[in-house]
Formats: sequence, C-alpha cells, structure tokens
Amino acid sequence: MRIVGYIYSYRVKNPDWEVETRLQKEKIRDYCAQNSLGLLKLYEEPITSRPDNKPALKKLLNDARLKSFSALVIVDSDRFGKNEPFQNNILKWLSQNNIKLIIINETSATGAKNTTESAKVQRIKQKVKDIPSLPEVVTKVVKLVQDPNSSASQLGKVISHDPGLTAKVLKLVNSAYYGFPKQVSSIQHAIMILGFATIRGLVLSSSVVKIFTPKSTGLISLDYKKFWKHSLLSAIAAKVAGEYTGRQVEDDIFSAAIMHDIGKIILEQYDHENYIKALRQAPDPLDYKRVLNSEKQNCEVTHGEIGSIVAKSWNLPQSITDVILHHHAPLISADYKNLTSMVYLGNILSHFAIKEVALDISFIDMSVLNYLGIDGDTLLQIYSELLEKSDNMEGMNEFFE
Ligand SMILES: [Fe+2]
Ligand SMILES: [Fe+2]
Repeated sequence: MRIVGYIYSYRVKNPDWEVETRLQKEKIRDYCAQNSLGLLKLYEEPITSRPDNKPALKKLLNDARLKSFSALVIVDSDRFGKNEPFQNNILKWLSQNNIKLIIINETSATGAKNTTESAKVQRIKQKVKDIPSLPEVVTKVVKLVQDPNSSASQLGKVISHDPGLTAKVLKLVNSAYYGFPKQVSSIQHAIMILGFATIRGLVLSSSVVKIFTPKSTGLISLDYKKFWKHSLLSAIAAKVAGEYTGRQVEDDIFSAAIMHDIGKIILEQYDHENYIKALRQAPDPLDYKRVLNSEKQNCEVTHGEIGSIVAKSWNLPQSITDVILHHHAPLISADYKNLTSMVYLGNILSHFAIKEVALDISFIDMSVLNYLGIDGDTLLQIYSELLEKSDNMEGMNEFFE
C-alpha cells in the first residue's frame, strides 16, 4: 500500500497550531509504524492555510489523480473541513481514484492514549509559553532568506541596522577559517561570500546566544560554550559530509545543523531542574538513546521535540524544524531524509572531532550511511577533512560570545 498522510489545522481556530499539527503528525506516523506501513509523504498545510484555501490539499488531490499513492491517512473525519458538501466532494474524488481513506479517530478506541497526550500537550505548552520571540532583525533576515526575490543589498541593509551583528559577521568572514587574502569590509560582500542561508544560520545562532544565558554553571550543567562549538562544528561537518555524497546539498543545511540541538537550550532554560537530572542520568551525548530516554523520563519531551516546536513558533522553515525533530533518527523524516541524514552524521562527527579522538564507526547507524551512499573509507576521509577544518576554527568561537 502506497500510503500518504494529510495534516490540517486552522490557526485562527487553534492558537496552539504548532502543537496541534505536531500531534497529528505523530499520530499518523505511529499508525504507520504500528501497521508496518512506510509513509511515503505527509501533505502538511502551512500556517497560512485557510478553510477556503488549502494548497497542500489541492496538491494531494492532484497527486491522487496521478495515482502517486493508494491510501490516505488523516486524524479525525473533519480534517478536510466542516463544510459537508465540500467533504463529500473530496471523499468522492478519492474513491473515484481508488484511494483508500483511513481515519484515525481521536475519540474511539485510542481514548486512553489521548488523555495522556492531552496532558502531555498541556505540559509542553506550559514549557514553551514564555519563550521570547526572536529580535526583529532576525525575523527579517529569516523572511528575506526565504524570499527567492530578495537581494544581498536588502539583506545587508537589514543586518547593518544592528552594528553588533554586522561587526560579528565581518569578523567571522575575515577569520582564518575562511582565509580570504583581502580584508572583507562590507556586509554585502560578506553575504555574497557566505551565502544567504549561512548568514541566516549565523544570525539565528548569535541571537539565540544573546537571548539565553546559562542558568547555572554547576558540575552538571549544559556548557554553552561547548554547546555552540558543537553546533558550529556539526554545521561544518554536515556540509562536508553532504558534499561527499555527490548529492545536492540544500542551502538550509548550515542553519538546520547549527540549530539542531536548540531544544537542549530550551530545556535548560525552561525546565531547568528536570533537565539537569536528565543530564546527570545521561551525560554522554553520543549515547543518544539514553539521552532521549532520560529527557523523556524527566522532562516529558526530548530536545528534538521541544526544539522543533520552538523553531516553528519562530517561523523557521519546515526543513529546519524537521531536522531538529528527527536528527537522531533521520530516516523517519518524511520530506527531508537527505538533509536530516547529513545533519545526523555531522552531529556525530562533531562530537568525535571535539574530543579529538579517532572516529568509532560503531556509533553511526549503518542504514543512514547506506542511505547517503557513504562507505567506510569515504567516512574516514570526511572525518579527516573535518579535523583539518576544526583546527582553523579558533576565531570562530568568538562569534558565540
Ligand atoms: Fe541532539
Ligand atoms: Fe548534537
């Protein structure tokens, strides 16, 4: 059965849009996993969708006509809208095209599970409710980078309104890491060299550094300096790994990789005591199964789950929120397997590079390597290139201070 899912939540009626859509997603994925069905694709309505304008549904109906799938799974029968004639039309269209419709009903046999889930949702909402929005300069940068018609001079203008940020970007582009023979003195030139998407990653992370300062510096705590070093090196590693695959490396890779663990900062800030307990129980970030279990046990959510919810609330693109959510199990990602797999690898390589030890391949999931088409020799090549790059990173760490 070639199965796809459809997700819709109307923002105006549902102020907790992020949580609502994430739950629908989880339910569909759980259903497919429990029934050993490989989910081909998730058609997800963007936040801007309205009852009278649902672009994802339009695409889905068109794909149904093209026979791109044979079954569709949704959560609740009114997912297509409350308007009955409209609902009936869709049902008719699906049956005309021989598409089997599977409805996961929240109020049926899974009632008990849903009670637990709504309690969980309440707690997640509680945790993320006070998270500050991003500074105006950052939201403008995010918007401009997503706009295919924006120019380097527009982006430069926005960044230069923030002198601190401008100085940081210029310092970075002139650091040994990039090794340009001539001094780069204009922000516009820096944008051309680094690229829009890399600039966005740097602007995002440097602003998150400013917003969140460490809660404690006890023996067991999240070391923010190490955290950002790991994030930056993961971004560099993901890019290097991506280039070795011979596939197209998406522009979003740098931002996605630098933000992949943002949920750890959120947990450290907003669920401090529980998160410290989780860290104590699972101090080695490479033992990620233990890390995720202890986060779930102590904080109810993993850093990936909460990080993706916050990233959505900051209006970061879906590619980035997906990477944040799935970076420890990249093949689960429905739409961004490639990108998420590269970041998965970048994350592990970065941990080894920071420790400056030989790479132990047994820490890497072979199915991800196979998916990326990377063999053992190539992996070692990628790692040695990363070690070389990390030697030149010294000046870059100042970016996060
Ligand atoms: Fe992580
Ligand atoms: Fe990480």
